[in-house]
Amino acid sequence: METWNKLYSSTIESFLSKKKESQQVIIGFNVNIDKIIRIGTDTLRGLKSKNLNGTLLQNKIPTDINSIESFILCLLNAIEGGKADEKLIVAKDVCDWIENTFVIDEIKIGGQAGIMANLLTKLELADVLLSLPVYDESFSGLLHDKINISFDSKGVCLVQSITKLQDFENKRLIHYIFEFDKGIYHLAASNSIECPRQNRFIASHDTVNSLLEIKNCFKKYSLENIQKYSIAIVSGFHLVNPETQDNTTHYDIIAPIISMFKEWKKLNPDLKIHIEFAATRDKRLIEIIFQRLLPLVNSIGLNEQELLSILETTNVTTYKKLRNEMSSINLFEGILNIWVKYPHLRIHLHYLGYYLTISSRLHEKYAIKRKQALILSAVFAAVKAKNSSICSIVEINKVPCSISKSGYDEIERLITFLRLEYKSIDEIEDGIVSTDSFTVVGIPTIIVKSAQQLVGVGDTISVLALLLEN
Ligand code: GLC
Repeated sequence: METWNKLYSSTIESFLSKKKESQQVIIGFNVNIDKIIRIGTDTLRGLKSKNLNGTLLQNKIPTDINSIESFILCLLNAIEGGKADEKLIVAKDVCDWIENTFVIDEIKIGGQAGIMANLLTKLELADVLLSLPVYDESFSGLLHDKINISFDSKGVCLVQSITKLQDFENKRLIHYIFEFDKGIYHLAASNSIECPRQNRFIASHDTVNSLLEIKNCFKKYSLENIQKYSIAIVSGFHLVNPETQDNTTHYDIIAPIISMFKEWKKLNPDLKIHIEFAATRDKRLIEIIFQRLLPLVNSIGLNEQELLSILETTNVTTYKKLRNEMSSINLFEGILNIWVKYPHLRIHLHYLGYYLTISSRLHEKYAIKRKQALILSAVFAAVKAKNSSICSIVEINKVPCSISKSGYDEIERLITFLRLEYKSIDEIEDGIVSTDSFTVVGIPTIIVKSAQQLVGVGDTISVLALLLEN
């Protein structure tokens, strides 16, 4: 443990003392407005709904939210499991009910693409080209004004700041983020549920991001300038919903993105494309992402719930094992399962207390760089969780680096398992192990007591770990 505490401090120190170069990064495709609602232990007591009773929690959890009852069921399920989850609201009156029932604590930019673009720009770590699904007026106050947005100027595609764009479409893309703490939550009729872990539940009403639209100008500009970009970070596939348009399928919505990736890669084979997963509900969608997108990208980022939903579709035995026990060994077997099918991928899993990555065997130097990047991403995530946003790089100096004991034990357990399982392994450093074919890097993370907000923390971890290892 002590070695890790020291390693955190020395990694922060050396990062702050180095000159940082801004990288050229493309980010797409989901940007929306997040309305944050903090759930207190008594907030749910007064919920009025005709079918809400003690048996509610035994019901099957709906895939989408089509009524107030299904919304409550999904929310309670997330709270009871301490799970990060997201569901689509397909009935607009549920939004009106939410607005009239809860107090909105904060309004922020949302969507992985919006959050990551703001973060990298604010920290001056990247010069970002962002794909915006619509030029919604409400984005202008929430997106950083140094983010580049493509637009058409008399047939020529240029970029400029969101604040200078005109002719807004003004569509609403609201996601409600319910943040909850560990504790007992009282319901009506003297029922209560216990939440084992602080987390957030997202209910999204979004007919815009569900079509993952790419503006022609974004496509044209990114293609004309693709040589200068080193990384593209893409997300939003979890929102794809063909039901919002007639005669459309999941594949129809994703197909233009697949062909754009192919064109990007043809012109710039060194471009690294990273997909950030999110709560992807639909099995057909997961299959398309696997069959069509994963062969084209270099890296994926996900949390344990997202891994579970993938395994439920791709490997039921591993899924059941992981569902029964969320241990580092089972999580490793989950990501290994994806990796053996797609050995060109770097897979980064973030979990409470530790992170794991797997990729093809790395040169020692690069593995160490990856470990440092993971450590830094954990420190930034701690700042974000503690203060709900990150304003500048120097804030990482103020984080008390106290390592998660359970995360540390889990990483140790995994390394012991790998030693037994694989005959010839190279142990490069604490937390870095290579077999003949792959390298695993695992780090324990910092524990933040009473985090202010968890939405966007996963995105912060993934984007910084990726960027800082390059
Ligand atoms: C998902 C949600 C979005 C939220 C983001 C945070 O993309 O749709 O509302 O901001 O996750 O990671």
